[in-house]
Amino acid sequence: MIASLSYKDQSPGVKARFDKLKARPKLLEISGLYKRFHSKAGEVVALQDINLTVHRREFMCVLGQSGCGKSTLIRILAGLETPSAGQVLVDGNPVIGPGRDRGMVFQSYTLFPWLTVKQNVMYGPRMAGKSDFTNQSEARQWLALVGLDKFEESYPHQLSGGMKQRAAIARALANEPRILLMDEPFGALDPQTRQQMQAYLLQIWKNVDITIFFITHDLDEAIFLSDRILVLDPRPGRIREIVEVPVPRPRDHEQIRSPEFLATKSHLETIIHPEDSHAKPSFDKLPIGRMTDVNDSVE
Ligand SMILES: Nc1ncnc2c1ncn2[C@@H]1O[C@H](COP(=O)(O)OP(=O)(O)O)[C@@H](O)[C@H]1O
Ligand SMILES: [Mg+2]
Repeated sequence: MIASLSYKDQSPGVKARFDKLKARPKLLEISGLYKRFHSKAGEVVALQDINLTVHRREFMCVLGQSGCGKSTLIRILAGLETPSAGQVLVDGNPVIGPGRDRGMVFQSYTLFPWLTVKQNVMYGPRMAGKSDFTNQSEARQWLALVGLDKFEESYPHQLSGGMKQRAAIARALANEPRILLMDEPFGALDPQTRQQMQAYLLQIWKNVDITIFFITHDLDEAIFLSDRILVLDPRPGRIREIVEVPVPRPRDHEQIRSPEFLATKSHLETIIHPEDSHAKPSFDKLPIGRMTDVNDSVE
């Protein structure tokens, strides 16, 4: 009998990679994070007891059912939301508001529609007071990195969804952040474009000294991209598990059928339950017979 592979089984190469990763400097340190919202409906504890370290150049994905606090967490990291308690350090510096050390890419396209792609990419550095001459040549380099060098004079409405997101990534990177915060950035793309974007993102990550914190609810996407996956439980949002992905790098989509990938996916499926799995709709009360003339069962 062949013993089935566990997601915890790491090949020597994968284990060595994790040992190296954990020896790198701490880029993001979250300690004792707690977030409570007061709303008309009452009090919601969105995040509780979040403690987490992400290392330099690590790729971490966050998974969890809707409402478990993923966006709240990333908004706190971005400095767009203040925690009720606890602390976030980026490169050792406390987060007290938005800053250029953190770049954000959301699901909805965040490009300025009245600026060309190149002007969008130059916007952040220009605001920071860099010279336009430097900005022009740097913008071209960022656009080449995301494969959009031919489209620098295009306006966002002339680009496909995937190209817009690549431009948004280039714009975030142009500020030279230490960490890229991405909240379901590929959620609105069709499956094929989404896969292409995942491959692109890994390529970019390989070429740039950047740490990536990426929210998704797609298990395949999380496994394909991540070093580690942070799994959150809902109500209150808290850490369920941090999974080390045993799939070797470099990655390609063929690995989706590999034993390591499948073992990780089946583990994630057992710990992440679809929303309302306890509240299945009931069809018992349907007036069967009025729906069809045929006295026949399809089952
Ligand atoms: N501004 C807010 N005011 C009140 N409640 C909020 C606010 N933002 C988020 N919440 C609540 O916090 C919980 C976590 O939300 P969110 O972080 O958006 O989850 P996710 O991104 O995982 O779907 C939810 O119950 C949500 O209703
Ligand atoms: Mg969300």
